[in-house]
Amino acid sequence: MKLLRFAAAVSLWLSLWLSLAIADKEAALARLEAPENDDGYNQELLDLVAIPSVSSLPENQPDILRAAAWLEARLKKAGMENVQVLHTQGPRPVVYAECLHAPPGAPTALVYAHYDVQPAADTADLWTSPPFEPEIRGGRAWGRGVDDDKGSGVLPPIQALEALLASGGSVPINVKVMLEGEEEVGSPFLEPFLAKHAGLLASDFVLSADGGQIAADQPAALLGLRGALAVEVQVATATTDVHSGMAGGAVQNPARSLAQLLSTMWHPNNSIAVAGWYDNVREISEGDRQDMAAYGFDEQRELLGPLGASAAVGEEGYTSLERLWHRPTLEVVGIGGGFQGAGIKTIVPARAFAKLAARLVPFQTPEEVLALLRAHVAEHSPAACNVTMVPLGFSARPYTQQKDSLPNRAAAKVLTGLMGNPPKYVRSGATIPALAAFQKHLGASTTVFAFGLPDSNLHAADENMHLSMYRLARKAWVHLFYELAEQAAAVAGADHSEL
Ligand SMILES: *[C@@H]1O[C@H](CO)[C@@H](O)[C@H](O)[C@H]1NC(C)=O
Ligand SMILES: *[C@@H]1O[C@H](CO)[C@@H](O)[C@H](O)[C@H]1NC(C)=O
Repeated sequence: MKLLRFAAAVSLWLSLWLSLAIADKEAALARLEAPENDDGYNQELLDLVAIPSVSSLPENQPDILRAAAWLEARLKKAGMENVQVLHTQGPRPVVYAECLHAPPGAPTALVYAHYDVQPAADTADLWTSPPFEPEIRGGRAWGRGVDDDKGSGVLPPIQALEALLASGGSVPINVKVMLEGEEEVGSPFLEPFLAKHAGLLASDFVLSADGGQIAADQPAALLGLRGALAVEVQVATATTDVHSGMAGGAVQNPARSLAQLLSTMWHPNNSIAVAGWYDNVREISEGDRQDMAAYGFDEQRELLGPLGASAAVGEEGYTSLERLWHRPTLEVVGIGGGFQGAGIKTIVPARAFAKLAARLVPFQTPEEVLALLRAHVAEHSPAACNVTMVPLGFSARPYTQQKDSLPNRAAAKVLTGLMGNPPKYVRSGATIPALAAFQKHLGASTTVFAFGLPDSNLHAADENMHLSMYRLARKAWVHLFYELAEQAAAVAGADHSEL
């Protein structure tokens, strides 16, 4: 009772505070929207993209540190506090900053984005302008990382916080910013980092500035991602390759053994034949079916057309969208053994290998699936083969969250107001290890709030960011911070009415 009275008082106070701060909000928005400020915001995007912070290449390690230092300075300039470059157990640090002066009753958000980028040198000849000499053409900025995640994610929330701090100091919720430097290599050191800094990073929810929208006028709200597990299966039958005439027909062939072993892993209807694989997989719910119907998947346009593929193939009894969003997979992602050169070499090889990657759905875990695969391989290995299975370091739990959480409601309202349509609720067949890690170590679910569009060529040549979306993003963050505070006040007020 006392607690609820307190909540009600806090709610009144927060509501009053918000009404007084409305002028600061308007001033911040005016600053972010003023055409004369565009050049400055665009230039800092070009400056950050010019730092080739490629996380997968050792030669770019100095650039990773340079990008972290650049962001440290940028967060300080924005007026953020406790700005730090924090080490992980790996070589790529996290940049942290906070602003914790919200009125009582306001929630605390952890804003997440990543400053590392994909490699580009391997596709340099496919770029219209050099990937790390970014430029503006035709209403877009072009360069590696200009969307993912520097322009879609990293800079807009910093610009919004700066504008609020400069316009009277009123950030209506507590904000912690965490910029990661290893997302593009699968966040291998994120979990121990979160475990170690759980106190510093503690928050009511995470706002991920890594992600994107369906179209300029169609927002998306992400409800789930698949998890993952990758292993290599190695088959060894001899200590050396042998003459296929001298020994062929009398000794085991590892490539053929591997093919036989792999063929036991799927049924003819494309369901996975590893015993126990589906034991924890739930049926698709009615709500999920409604979300899929509302999404309106266009198989030809979204899946087959761009690939030049002739037909959809997958687990019988499910549509392509159901397979992508709600069903687990087991794929051969690489295979090898024997002679790979031109022409023929008459051998029976000594070894063969296959790399397998599974995508997992809720209630499956990488640990459980690894054990199932081990048992399957042990049971189905052909004679006279040494079969070993080595995990490949790509392992993540599936991620899922409630549709009507406070931050999801707030984001939906803001995006509907700015983009003209309510969000479509989507899942993704892909994996972002960070989201499951936030859930595990911080107990916080993640609302995705990012502004790249599907034609931005993520991870490919000619990556780009629509400047209209970059402009929209910085405004949207201001609206989101206020909407989160207002919804938190409304929730506390609702508690009062239940007295
Ligand atoms: C297969 O495993 C056995 C038992 O560990 C070992 O003695 C043998 O050398 C292995 N053979 C190959 C070809 O790896
Ligand atoms: C696919 O075939 C297997 C083996 O016959 C069967 O157990 C499974 O239920 C089938 N799956 C579907 C979706 O029909």
